[in-house]
Amino acid sequence: MSFDTVAHNRSRQQFNGVSSVWLFGYGSLIYKVDFPFLERRPATIEDWARRFWQGSHDHRGTPEAPGRVVTLVSQPGATCKGMAYRVSPDVFEHLDVREKNGYLRFSTTMTFDDGSNAEGLVYIATEDNAAFLGPASTLDIASQIARSSGPSGPNSEYLLKLADALRTLGDHDPHVFELESHLR
Ligand code: BEZ
Repeated sequence: MSFDTVAHNRSRQQFNGVSSVWLFGYGSLIYKVDFPFLERRPATIEDWARRFWQGSHDHRGTPEAPGRVVTLVSQPGATCKGMAYRVSPDVFEHLDVREKNGYLRFSTTMTFDDGSNAEGLVYIATEDNAAFLGPASTLDIASQIARSSGPSGPNSEYLLKLADALRTLGDHDPHVFELESHLR
């Protein structure tokens, strides 16, 4: 699969007649909200774990020296905490471009803090995308993050902002917090 997923995403879901869509954010969408939304609620999704396994050539690194950003990996029994946004479908025109480096939109069920559920979408970079880097030790990942920087700024800023945002949500993600402590 090519790096640029904009056209692919536009063909994946049709929003005809739909006035709003729930979008689950687990990475930069939690703290970088550069899109309008109708409603925002903390939420979780089941059987997915957040991992710094996706390469970033366009935001937090360069093609020659990619940084690392989060994607979700299938892990039965895991829970991933994030923020859900109810958005107008036209918001995806912006987000598909912002998240074009390997992320595809998938359907998911999200659970809000009051126990209610909604169906919605989530961006996931699967292991068959060209920018996927995969697992490494947390020391190696933290070291790559420490030396990487791209058009959106230092990769370390991405990790630290995400860790802060997760603390604010009351989440404890051992993978993210271990990387944060290596970096600090
Ligand atoms: C997220 O926060 O959900 C997200 C951010 C960037 C790419 C994919 C997902």
